[in-house]
Amino acid sequence: MSIRTICCIGAGYVGGPTMAVIADRCPGIQVTVVDLNQARIDAWNDPDLSKLPVYEPGLDAVVGRCRGRNLHFSTAVEPAIAAADMVFLSVNTPTKTKGVGAGQASDLRWIEASARQVAACAQGHTIVVEKSTLPVRTAETVQAILSAAQGDGASGGSPKTFAVLSNPEFLAEGTAIPDLEQPDRVLIGGDDPAAIEALVGVYGQWVPDQRILRTNLWSSELSKLTANAFLAQRISSINSIAALCEATGADVQEVAHAIGADSRIGGKFLKAGPGFGGSCLQKDILNLVYLCGHYGLHEVAAYWQSVVELNGWQQHRIARLVVQRLFGTVTGKRLAVLGFAFKADTNDTREAPAIRICQDLLEESAQLAIYDPKVSAAQMAEDLGPVGQEGAWEAVGTPLEAVAGADAVLILTEWASFAGLDWPQLAAPMRKPAWLFDARSIADLAAARAAGLNVWRVGMG
Ligand code: UDX
Ligand code: UDX
Repeated sequence: MSIRTICCIGAGYVGGPTMAVIADRCPGIQVTVVDLNQARIDAWNDPDLSKLPVYEPGLDAVVGRCRGRNLHFSTAVEPAIAAADMVFLSVNTPTKTKGVGAGQASDLRWIEASARQVAACAQGHTIVVEKSTLPVRTAETVQAILSAAQGDGASGGSPKTFAVLSNPEFLAEGTAIPDLEQPDRVLIGGDDPAAIEALVGVYGQWVPDQRILRTNLWSSELSKLTANAFLAQRISSINSIAALCEATGADVQEVAHAIGADSRIGGKFLKAGPGFGGSCLQKDILNLVYLCGHYGLHEVAAYWQSVVELNGWQQHRIARLVVQRLFGTVTGKRLAVLGFAFKADTNDTREAPAIRICQDLLEESAQLAIYDPKVSAAQMAEDLGPVGQEGAWEAVGTPLEAVAGADAVLILTEWASFAGLDWPQLAAPMRKPAWLFDARSIADLAAARAAGLNVWRVGMG
């Protein structure tokens, strides 16, 4: 079966960029991305490409090329499903906050709702592709909902049939476009060879066949969780060693370089920092922990749980050491926070380390001046929540505004512009003795020291 029309439910960080690249690389396929959120769809349709709801380098050019040609954004979910040969489910699956599995399991209500909508509206044969990160065996749920509708030709059309595939997304935010254009691998899980080959026919238009891996459904779902768990584990591992470096006088950058030179270890994902953030790493490990618990594998669950615990510890540790260096109190002190996004080149703040570090400092009654080139003040307000009596924060428009009268600067996101900060200029309006806390190892420390600042860098003993 050759795919002519695709519908993607969910116009978020995954659905939007993924469909844009599919449309760009497959001019023969009509791609419609639907979402319940009208404001989000309006933003995807904004004639001004700088207003797209997702910030990703290169995304504007891809959308500019395809939108209106074979890439469409709409809130009309039902007709888009009815017209589709293939439906991608790319709705969000956050960690549950209450009920069974709260704090670990994923909330699948939107996946279920989308599956029901597909069951109701699809026509003819439809291949349903799970793109959201899901707990292992979710495809079963999707399949059960779809089979209940299968064969239902009552509405007058041809009978409906479905196939379900798992096609996890490995793109990282900030590099989504190159990750999609030149993926290390594309993973397709399923038990229906014709459906698998139909999806291969889509990716095969730009991805070499040896990079397309075919597995069973459960392997595919579990591989996604495992990949993110391994990535997160490397970060927790290097952050644990960073703390030891600080205590012993070693330098974590030298250690990371030395171990990364071993081709068995490899050099990637060894940057010590304020801990991992983002919508996936923590959520996927917690999913894995829940799954292991469910199958009675308590030691395995505890092993992965410790990766998340170390991450939280690192964030609290950084907030604590800021307080310690500032003579044991930050009450009423102004602290400049540079960077709020969970990593550079994105406006996404989900699980950003900056949130927890800022909250700890606000708890200590600090006055924060926060600068991020892409995160809005409204987003910061949502993330930081209500602030206790004495702490306070404001969003500012430049690093220079942030440091006016500040006792310290904290760098919490590795925005490239922070590498070139003008330390003599920034240090001048700070209250002395003043500190630079570089949690991302990006600042020019020599320049900061020469400008009279005390400096701390993660993992530098
Ligand atoms: C994706 C994946 O789907 C998620 O499983 C993964 O862990 C993180 O990445 P993401 O694209 O980042 O999620 O989520 P988000 O940006 O929140 O986008 C999801 C979109 O789906 C939202 O725009 C939401 O409005 C939409 N949605 C949700 C629907 O259109 N219908 C629904 O029923 C639920
Ligand atoms: C991750 C996975 O990389 C991707 O494959 C999956 O599809 C979604 O989840 P993402 O969350 O977008 O992608 O970003 P990633 O680059 O993995 O970074 C996650 C967090 O780890 C960020 O907060 C980042 O700053 C941090 N990180 C990353 C480190 O602290 N050190 C590193 O060496 C690498």
